Amino acid sequence: MQHRVVFRPSGAEVSVERGTKVSEAAKLAGVEIATPCGGTGICGRCTVLIEGDFGNRVLACVTEVDRDMVITVPEKDSGKVIAATDDKHLDIDELSPMSGGLGLAVDIGTTTVALDIMDMSTGEELYSSADVNGQKKLGDDVLSRIQCAADGGTDELRRLIIETINRLIADFPDRGRIESVYIAGNTTMEHLFAGVDPTPIRVEPYEPVVVRSEMDGKDSGLTVKGDARVLTMPCISAYVGGDITSDIVYAGMDRSEGISLLIDVGTNGEVALGNRDMLMVCSSSAGPAFEGGNLRSGMLAKPGAIDSVRIDEGKVSCTVIGGTEPKGICGSGIIDLLAQLYIDGLVDKRGNFTDRAELKDGRFIVHGNVGISVPEIRDVMMTKAAIFSASRALVRNLGIEFSDLEHIYIAGGFGNFIDMDSAIVLGMFPDVPREKFVYLGNASLAGAKAALLSSTFRDRIEDAFSKMTYLDLSSDPVFFDEYMSAQFIPHTESDLFPSVHPRVRD
Ligand code: FES
Repeated sequence: MQHRVVFRPSGAEVSVERGTKVSEAAKLAGVEIATPCGGTGICGRCTVLIEGDFGNRVLACVTEVDRDMVITVPEKDSGKVIAATDDKHLDIDELSPMSGGLGLAVDIGTTTVALDIMDMSTGEELYSSADVNGQKKLGDDVLSRIQCAADGGTDELRRLIIETINRLIADFPDRGRIESVYIAGNTTMEHLFAGVDPTPIRVEPYEPVVVRSEMDGKDSGLTVKGDARVLTMPCISAYVGGDITSDIVYAGMDRSEGISLLIDVGTNGEVALGNRDMLMVCSSSAGPAFEGGNLRSGMLAKPGAIDSVRIDEGKVSCTVIGGTEPKGICGSGIIDLLAQLYIDGLVDKRGNFTDRAELKDGRFIVHGNVGISVPEIRDVMMTKAAIFSASRALVRNLGIEFSDLEHIYIAGGFGNFIDMDSAIVLGMFPDVPREKFVYLGNASLAGAKAALLSSTFRDRIEDAFSKMTYLDLSSDPVFFDEYMSAQFIPHTESDLFPSVHPRVRD
């Protein structure tokens, strides 16, 4: 069976067989969608929007055409360094690269490593690639990597990250012409890249051993030019790393008059607040609920994961990554599920099922054996409470309200796929006009690219870094209060979520 697919903004059209991947359909239509991880669903950089589909942001490389579709392909940022909003645009005219030759920008995530190679004379992106961080076999999260380092594994962890980056650039024949490398990652990843034992990060006074590092290509172990300059983005604290510095500057928070909030959702929820005069950052331990941890049906956002859910009068519909039979549910699906259970009156504000909910062995079933229980709901509520209360603690410490914010930037690969409305219903994101939200995608990598190409951007990194203040939530009384109040759906103070309550089924 054939389906018609229209791509926007170009208007290109193609007819393809049902089951064709969206990325393949794009290729046939002459529309370029980059697939840096080779279409394995790892890097999250082939995101497109499907019109009318409630899941709406999907990975083109794993999503199948199963009906007539209208698909919006976000503008590619290659060739120019474009920040999140137009007024923060850094045009190619400002090109003032760190060196000649080629530049390599790398985002070292705990789970995924993504990189781009740039022509430093034109700013053109020549090559992109991404894959799983090879350190993953020695531990899934930051704390287990630190434990591994504490057990004498620092050298091995360093070897694994260098090997991952070298493998990712191995297919690029001109890698020996790379003269500059800019690396952004969380504090632990940057320590391990530099071969520094990160163990002190997890003990009092919880401070990084180094805030940044610089070495030459030969010492780095990377297969780049021997005298290349290899730099890491400055880290603000033990749990707010160079990736957040990169996010903040890329978003343009450092030069806006209006105050904005930035939320990076991961195992740690890092939050930043500020403008050109001051920047405050903090980190709250969100836990692994959105990465599938602790949930019987939880899984990472891979083919087979339910990634969006709608419930209407108890009837469930969902979308599955790759269009296959569901094997589990990933973070964006979990946020949708809980928000929908609440709106449909199947779960109360404490996270208990109401009499209306049909349960099987104490679980609400989404599809097959994929479902959720009350203890699992509570786990998700603790995670969302950590993120919301960190945001509110920053805002209250500054004596302002969410309504005073100019923008709320959502950063990080996972952030891209969160349905903003569901996150508001759940009480994870503030209930402000939706147009204030800006999805940044992988701003950590985008910031590293901008740093390679623009001296203005590099100056802004230094300036922003000098203005950043770290708020230690563990000793902040406002945070503790907020955390307790946020352990409800959406919150104990219903006035904070005025758009949610009228929508809840009686
Ligand atoms: S190309 Fe689709 S996730 Fe990487």
